[in-house]
Amino acid sequence: NEGSLWGARFAGGPSPELQRLSKSTHFDWQLAHYDLAGSRAHARALAAAGYLEADELERMVAGLDALEQRVVDGELVAADSDEDVHGALEAALISEVGPELGGKLRAGRSRNDQIATLVRLYLKDHAVTIGRMLVHLIDALSAQADAHRTAIMPGRTHLQHAQPVLLAHHLLAHGWALSRDLERLVDWMKRADVSPYGGGALAGSTLGLDAASVARDLGLASPAENSIDGTASRDVVAEFAFVAAMIGIDLSRISEEVILWNTREFGFVTLDDAYSTGSSIMPQKKNPDIAELARGKSGRLVGNLTGLLATLKALPLAYNRDLQEDKEPVFDSVETLEVLLPAFTGMIATLTFHTDRMAELAPAGFSLATDVAEWLVKRRVPFRDAHEITGSLVRYAETHGLDLHDVDDEALASISAHLVPEVREVLTIEGSVASRDGIGGTAPARVDGQFASLADRVRHL
Ligand code: ARG
Repeated sequence: NEGSLWGARFAGGPSPELQRLSKSTHFDWQLAHYDLAGSRAHARALAAAGYLEADELERMVAGLDALEQRVVDGELVAADSDEDVHGALEAALISEVGPELGGKLRAGRSRNDQIATLVRLYLKDHAVTIGRMLVHLIDALSAQADAHRTAIMPGRTHLQHAQPVLLAHHLLAHGWALSRDLERLVDWMKRADVSPYGGGALAGSTLGLDAASVARDLGLASPAENSIDGTASRDVVAEFAFVAAMIGIDLSRISEEVILWNTREFGFVTLDDAYSTGSSIMPQKKNPDIAELARGKSGRLVGNLTGLLATLKALPLAYNRDLQEDKEPVFDSVETLEVLLPAFTGMIATLTFHTDRMAELAPAGFSLATDVAEWLVKRRVPFRDAHEITGSLVRYAETHGLDLHDVDDEALASISAHLVPEVREVLTIEGSVASRDGIGGTAPARVDGQFASLADRVRHL
């Protein structure tokens, strides 16, 4: 039982079954760098409080630096007998600097406050990476919108033709949604920026260590105000998983459109060869696998979130070993997004839009009917009547196999005396789009203004 973290109280070592169950080094080894950073900060706090002499601190920090190098080189890895990253690195420190000095580091801390701190450090770093990736995706959407400022597409509700909109307006809509995900990530940082280090197992420490200086050393804004909360709460982890899932959901909504737009029936986009796949049997196929993987992985991201919430539900305070189950799902969410986002951005940046096809379909499905109704309103026909008159016009056109602008003067007049020939002036998709010029509308002038405001919002987050 020698070398174990709790040997003395036990008559024998853990069973092999327990060891296998308990082990977390296969996933928490990723935290080795943060564990060592925590140890350096803790060593300095011990020295400041008089528990390490200056030369001891120096040797301890040198030993931790040496371990860091060995971890980076891949030469130091967890041994079979190690339970978790904390125990493994403590054992390694003891063999590096000797048991006398190495054995002093554990004073005043617990793996409970360590792990609660390290997972925050890990997530903060990855939040920055994921945030940058989101900015690239928003930029790619804006660039595509910019390249197609005047293109008009069929806007849909219920997946049915609704009203024509600018393609740029539609693409920027996705950009706005993603900008809120970015904002969530930035806002999450405030709550993540707290250091539970010094909370010990749950109740704090008797040694008078300066938790604020440990927090500062680790780049965290402040120590946790409550050691029980610091060691036992994982809402910060769950919130990160939520933001990751929300990003996944937003990507899946873009994906579904790319998949539809890429069908022969829509014919709105062509995927770049480098961002699409073929079929092993059908030589003609070019598949939108990135979009499908994004759609699929969004389910996985939701699963990580719900799994994590289920783990946390009804856990009594303070630390419970259940909390070890927080890491695999959130690590998976991080890894999933960091692989997915660059591929997704590449797919968006290289899409070719077939704007002729979009323009051809934009007026279909009587998508200009609302324009007729609002034209009537501008001529002071009550909207209720305008809606009725336009509905009759649509029915007439439909039964006669005509588009709205093909209905002749006589037929217009027979439907309503208000339907004079000038109504055809609003029956163009360009006119329809241009006239929706209120704030947030799809008129080109309004959409032009969005580029700067979206870029501004992203820059100021
Ligand atoms: N590996 C654990 C975790 O990830 C930390 C260890 C705490 N273990 C304990 N028995 N108190 O949560």
